[in-house]
Amino acid sequence: LRENHLQVAIDGPAGAGKSTIARIVADKLGLYYLDTGAMYRSVAYKALASGISLQDEKAVTGLARIIDIRLSHNDRQTVFCDGEDVTSKIRDVEVSRAVSLIASYPGVRNRLVELQRQEALKGNIVMDGRDIGTYVLPDAGIKIFLTASASERARRRYLENIKEGKMVSLEEIRSDIEKRDVVDSQRKFAPLKPAKDAVILDTTGLTIDEVVAKIIRIIREG
Ligand code: DC
Repeated sequence: LRENHLQVAIDGPAGAGKSTIARIVADKLGLYYLDTGAMYRSVAYKALASGISLQDEKAVTGLARIIDIRLSHNDRQTVFCDGEDVTSKIRDVEVSRAVSLIASYPGVRNRLVELQRQEALKGNIVMDGRDIGTYVLPDAGIKIFLTASASERARRRYLENIKEGKMVSLEEIRSDIEKRDVVDSQRKFAPLKPAKDAVILDTTGLTIDEVVAKIIRIIREG
């Protein structure tokens, strides 16, 4: 089945613009889109909301096994977690700070990867995350690793926050992003790193439209 499906894996560090870019590419080409970061964020949110200690690997893993995560495939990609609309809550600073730790637990990853692979069976798909090209979809036909300088990534997040009325200083965002990158790249299981066959795309100084155009060209040239 997989051989007939187009799979586009977009990986990269926090704030590289993956979800914005991946969503537009999927829209333009009529592909499914799956934001895997939203799944890890949902587990972190649920753990915080249920008062489960983030350090309690067993409890968090148990939670990941039973949690019902639904991502709509529409433009805004609404996220429902056990029936609750968590689309905006999973972007809160508390969740962003908690997510890297719970994403380092193998039991959590195994469960979410299983769900992600199931989604990929549905049809042509663009999936964004940290380990899509290296682990979730190792046979993906197109693999892109999106990066940008840490200050550019922090600046983008900062502007996004302002738009949503969230007040967090640029310095704080930059320090959070750098901490998250360290945890994500140094974890043992499926760390953040470019797949050997990934195209590395540095988006520093590029507009969203320019990055989208580059990726669509890469996909068309296959
Ligand atoms: O892309 P994002 O910022 O929403 O991701 C949130 C966190 O989830 C990130 O710190 C690392 C983790 N993550 C992961 O480990 N593997 C993925 N495929 C996607 C996200």
